[in-house]
Amino acid sequence: MLIAPSILSADFGHLANEVKAICDGGCDFVHVDVMDGHFVPNLTIGPVVVSSVAKVATKPLDVHLMVENNTFFVDLFAPLKPEFISFHIEEEKHPHRLIQKIRSLGIRPAVVLNPHTPPEAIEFLLEDLDMVLLMSVNPGFGGQKFIPSVVEKAKRLKSLIEKRNSECLIEVDGGVNSENVSILKEAGVDIVVAGSYVFNHPDGYQKAIESLK
Ligand code: DX5
Ligand code: ZN
Repeated sequence: MLIAPSILSADFGHLANEVKAICDGGCDFVHVDVMDGHFVPNLTIGPVVVSSVAKVATKPLDVHLMVENNTFFVDLFAPLKPEFISFHIEEEKHPHRLIQKIRSLGIRPAVVLNPHTPPEAIEFLLEDLDMVLLMSVNPGFGGQKFIPSVVEKAKRLKSLIEKRNSECLIEVDGGVNSENVSILKEAGVDIVVAGSYVFNHPDGYQKAIESLK
């Protein structure tokens, strides 16, 4: 299992040290939650702060947009050269066009599905995508309870990916911990995002990441 700790649960007063610590602790990606206060009822960080994160991160950035104006935010974050930019399918009229734009910027495109959105909604995008992110909580906040129906959704998505001969990865975000990570692996999930589990772990970030792996 690949691990992407969400810096939403980090201590923002010591952000550089927090980012260094998860990278040294063996994470695979640094997950960055961008919230605009409109698509979700919370507001987080913009490119000024994320550029400081990018400077100290020794692992690639995984930028998760939870915003209304996706194209505007793709243009804001593209200069930071993240590995992935993911946008919510519920908030995009022209997802196919935006996927191609993200790829043309040299970034791997991904879409995000809220808990109610069926995987079939994106079947015809799968061959153009590098990753699908399945929300296992309602987006907006860290520390929420895992919604178990994501397991069935991951299985259905996995069969659609195989049917379309796509190389697309599956990522799950929200409420992930050492109890539910193995059932996600069995369902075909490649990457998990973990915020509060990693940053609140009593034995430190490295042990938390190891336990998820
Ligand atoms: C929620 C964010 C998640 C969140 C995960 O909108 O997308 O990345 O921070 O935090 P935990 O692991 O605490 O649910
Ligand atoms: Zn996220």
